[in-house]
Amino acid sequence: MTVPTIKLNHGGVEIPVIGYGLGTAHFKRAGNDALDPAITTATETALSVGFTHLDGAEVYGNETELGLAISSSSSIPRSSLFITTKVISSISSPSEALSTSLKKLGVEYVDLYLIHAPFWDEKEKGITIEQAWKELEGLYEKGLVKAIGVSNFRIVDLERIRKVAKVQPAVNQIEYHPYLQNPELKEYHKTHGIVTAVYGPLIPITKATPGPLDSVIEELSKKYNKSATQILLRWSIDDGNVVITTSSKEWRMKEALEVAEFKLDDEDVERIRTVGKEKRHRVFWTKEFTD
Ligand SMILES: NC(=O)c1ccc[n+]([C@@H]2O[C@H](COP(=O)([O-])OP(=O)(O)OC[C@H]3O[C@@H](n4cnc5c(N)ncnc54)[C@H](OP(=O)(O)O)[C@@H]3O)[C@@H](O)[C@H]2O)c1
Repeated sequence: MTVPTIKLNHGGVEIPVIGYGLGTAHFKRAGNDALDPAITTATETALSVGFTHLDGAEVYGNETELGLAISSSSSIPRSSLFITTKVISSISSPSEALSTSLKKLGVEYVDLYLIHAPFWDEKEKGITIEQAWKELEGLYEKGLVKAIGVSNFRIVDLERIRKVAKVQPAVNQIEYHPYLQNPELKEYHKTHGIVTAVYGPLIPITKATPGPLDSVIEELSKKYNKSATQILLRWSIDDGNVVITTSSKEWRMKEALEVAEFKLDDEDVERIRTVGKEKRHRVFWTKEFTD
């Protein structure tokens, strides 16, 4: 199955519109250095069913497990993979953080390197958002990362980067689903050529029920003969985003990839958008976001 891609604004890089996430369910607490073979096995399964876009982060504590899955799936050429990782705990030195990540992942470069969030104490960490971005630009220029971007950035944070950037962010990865739409930020992304990558796409059916979309999703499931999961993943794509999902189950991984095979009609995309606005539900970074 071929997953479509979106061209990023620098480096000629193309990002597959569906990615497999190593966070949330696969997250390992800091200080837990014991390898978790279940994470490697799940990621190997994800690769074997056709995921090529893998979303990792230093803070997930499982870059080694991700690296093991990549190396044991050596029949898939490195050039066919799209590997993302992110920096936040080691934001004081993104260069050192990347070097550690590359070793753990067992790769010479990552396709996308993100600042995981703008929420750090700049005095305590000894680095500002602007300085961190300049370091990422240096890593990009050295070819250690094929594209650079951010995650959980608001317009105010993106503006700080925009003012100093030689290389503009290619991606902003944010929590986004029908119950957490952010039209102003999306418009800003569009104006500045930033791809919106979304996480938590299934929240309306996994963590925010009951809700006004329940009956709409049920109706559309029947109309398209697709599961509720597929309707929501497809909505994320038809709304113009790259979608990051995850699962420990092979059948759900396949179900997720199958969304490449259909499309929602424009009026159904709009209907989910409109009904979704009746409820607001944020799951991640709730202390940091005030909306
Ligand atoms: N940048 C950030 O700050 C940030 C924050 C959060 C996440 N992320 C990234 O985004 C990825 C995906 O995030 P997410 O987990 O929120 O994605 P999601 O696609 O909304 O949810 C996937 C999770 O929901 C479960 N699930 C799926 N269908 C279900 C159903 N019908 N009923 C109950 N549970 C169901 C899956 O469990 P099963 O294993 O049972 O299928 C899996 O744990 C993460 O792994 C991470 O890479 C990034």
